[in-house]
Amino acid sequence: MKRDFSGKTVVVTGACRGIGAGIAERFAQDGARLVMVSNAERVFETADKLQQQYGVEVLALQVDVTDEAQVQALYQQAAEKFGSIDVSIQNAGVITIDTFDQMPKADFDKILAVNTTGVWLCCREAAKYMVKQQSGSLINTSSGQGRQGFIYTPHYAASKMGVIGITQSLAQELAPWKITVNAFCPGIIESEMWDYNDRVWGEILSNEKKRYGKGELMAEWVEGIPLKRAGQPQDVAGLVAFLASEDARYITGQTINVDGGLIMS
Ligand SMILES: NC(=O)c1ccc[n+]([C@@H]2O[C@H](COP(=O)([O-])OP(=O)(O)OC[C@H]3O[C@@H](n4cnc5c(N)ncnc54)[C@H](O)[C@@H]3O)[C@@H](O)[C@H]2O)c1
Repeated sequence: MKRDFSGKTVVVTGACRGIGAGIAERFAQDGARLVMVSNAERVFETADKLQQQYGVEVLALQVDVTDEAQVQALYQQAAEKFGSIDVSIQNAGVITIDTFDQMPKADFDKILAVNTTGVWLCCREAAKYMVKQQSGSLINTSSGQGRQGFIYTPHYAASKMGVIGITQSLAQELAPWKITVNAFCPGIIESEMWDYNDRVWGEILSNEKKRYGKGELMAEWVEGIPLKRAGQPQDVAGLVAFLASEDARYITGQTINVDGGLIMS
C-alpha cells in the first residue's frame, strides 16, 4: 500500500544495507526527504542509488550512533537542510555470538552501546526538534530477542529488551507534544547480518551438537516460522511506514512483531 510522505523528513539509522536500506527505499518510494545514516562509508553509495532511482532528496551521513556529538550534529544538519524532523527510525544494530565463558566484556558493552544507548541518544536528539514542532514519530528497532532471550546472545537480548523499555518510557513523556514512540521486533529477516551469524552460529552449534552445518540452521529456523519463509527488509518497511503514517497517530508505546508469526506474544 502506497503512502504519501512528501514534505516529511525521515531519518533512518543503519541505512547502508539490510533492513535500514529497505526502510529508506520504502520512504523514497513514498516521496519522503531522506536522511540516511550509518557508521559505514557504504551509506553514500546506497543513498546515491535511491536518489537516482526515485529522484528524492537525500542527505547521507557517516555517523556512529554511540557518539553523542556526532548524533547531535546529524539532527542539526538534517533540520538545517530540510527544516523539520518528522520521523526518526533508530535501526542501527550489531550482534556478536559467544558461549558464556568466551564472551569478552568489551563485546557486551559494545552491543549495549549501539543497540540501546544509540537508540536512546537518537530519540533524545530527534525529540528536541519534534517538541518544537509539536509532532513527530520515533520508531525503534528491537528484535524477537526483545521478547525472548536466545542462547549465546545475552548482551543482544538485554539490548533489545532495553529498546522496548526506552520506547514505553519516552512514549509517556513525549505524548503531550503529540510525539508517538513505537518499536518493532523483526524475526528472521534476510540481510548481511546473517552471513556472519550463519557462519558463527554454525560453528558454535556444530561443535556442541555435531549436526548443524552452514545454512542448515537457518533452514531449521525458517521451518519454525508459521508463514514458512524468512522475512525481507520490505516486510519490515511496510510496518514502519504504517507506524510513521497518520493512520498510526493514536498508537504509541507499542511494540509490534514482524516475524511471520514466529513469536506470538
Ligand atoms: N536481520 C534480522 O533478522 C534481524 C532480526 C531482529 C532484529 N534485527 C535488527 O534490525 C536492525 C538492522 O539489522 P540488519 O539485519 O539490517 O543488519 P545489518 O548488519 O545488515 O545492518 C546494520 C546497520 O547498522 C549500521 N551500524 C552498525 N553499528 C553502527 C553504529 N555504531 N553507528 C551507526 N550505524 C551502525 C551498519 O553500518 C548497518 O548499516 C538491527 O538493529 C538488528 O539488530 C535484525
